[in-house]
Amino acid sequence: MSGQDSPIPMISTPCGALSGVAEVPGDKSISHRSLILGTMCVGETRITGLLEGEDVLDTAKAMRAFGAEVEKDEDGAWHVHGVGVGGFTEPDQVIDCGNSGTGVRLIMGAMATSPITACFTGDASLNSRPMARVTDPLALFGARAVGRSGGRLPMVIEGARAPVPVRYEVPVPSAQVKSAVLLAGLNAPGQTVVIEKEATRDHTERMLEGFGAEITVEEQDGKRVITLTGQPELQPQVIAVPRDPSSAAFPVCAALIVPGSDVLVPGIGLNPTRAGLFTTLREMGAELTYENEREEGGEPVADLRARYSPDMRGIEVPAERAASMIDEYPILSVVAANASGQTVMRGVKELRVKESDRIEAMARGLRANGITVEDGEDWWTVTGCGAGQVPGGAEVETFLDHRIAMSFLCLGMAAQSAVQLDDGAPVATSFPIFEPLMAGLGADIRRMT
Ligand code: S3P
Repeated sequence: MSGQDSPIPMISTPCGALSGVAEVPGDKSISHRSLILGTMCVGETRITGLLEGEDVLDTAKAMRAFGAEVEKDEDGAWHVHGVGVGGFTEPDQVIDCGNSGTGVRLIMGAMATSPITACFTGDASLNSRPMARVTDPLALFGARAVGRSGGRLPMVIEGARAPVPVRYEVPVPSAQVKSAVLLAGLNAPGQTVVIEKEATRDHTERMLEGFGAEITVEEQDGKRVITLTGQPELQPQVIAVPRDPSSAAFPVCAALIVPGSDVLVPGIGLNPTRAGLFTTLREMGAELTYENEREEGGEPVADLRARYSPDMRGIEVPAERAASMIDEYPILSVVAANASGQTVMRGVKELRVKESDRIEAMARGLRANGITVEDGEDWWTVTGCGAGQVPGGAEVETFLDHRIAMSFLCLGMAAQSAVQLDDGAPVATSFPIFEPLMAGLGADIRRMT
């Protein structure tokens, strides 16, 4: 999403029962990492199931700019011919990461220990997000960053000429920061150690191991200590990207709140660092079952079956679960609005620095649609109206945030009156087939051109 594209106003009208099979696209986190790690080995990495959303396509473009060949074949598989750890060439143009915080932060990490300079930019949302959380630890390796005030993009990173390994305790629960440090550590001699107080999604650790890096993860005094040995020769891989649990969240939650619905969402990864939403929904009384539970590529996978659940009640979501469902709070708040009683969400300060301030964006839109929301810096509560009792009827702002847009489209499906968006274009960053997929289940979403 460039931010210069024209806005696409949308309307979601209350609909009949949703039913059928929802095949959601590939995981966004794993797609970015597949392209970046494929670039960091010599030889060909083959990727099937890559998410072809704008965020990931921007990362593919960036990897080409750093010297990789990245192509899609006629069968839909992607091929990355990488340049190896430390083999990045200097881009001759500014790298535009569009809307993607994951893309820019991971790429900055991957290039920060190579003797090259690169300039990064993004859309209005990305250019307002904090980058010091990544450039501070990258400075410890010897990289230099010069950006705008507040550590914001556009920003130039001058990679370290003689990188040194680092030991870094991540001050905020962020898989992007952890991953940027690990990717930088790949081209530093010796051992880079990253310490997490709270476990965040562990795709980088798992994939580094898969690509042949020497990496260990230990528990010490309640913290996760990750040790990576630098300058490995990574081995190209064949990767089947699993479907994204964060995208599955939308058809699952829509089915729970639209009367009469019964939807199957097959092949969803239930890695414990990503599956917090589904646990929370079950605690609220959702009729959400795991069918055909199995292991694929070392990850637990199941088909999710979601049925209309008129008896859901609000709960207090444990703060220690936040990292495992950080992207799912917007859609959880829509379910909470359709439950009875109050849902309390604490320990969620990170929501304020996502593609938008997600507490503020959801609170404003939910209030406009007749729902009571209270919020503080790191918490918010939603008082449910009960099944079928959400008034709806308002237009909301989406602030260049795909998850805000999709959450309010789901709200409209179960409200008493339609919900409108000022701009649904950002949906294409992570879930480009959202509109046809939801229409196939029975939703009534239209573009208002
Ligand atoms: C991601 C990490 C999370 C998440 C984002 C994807 C990743 O961000 O919100 O959508 O792939 O590492 P933070 O690391 O900022 O929590």
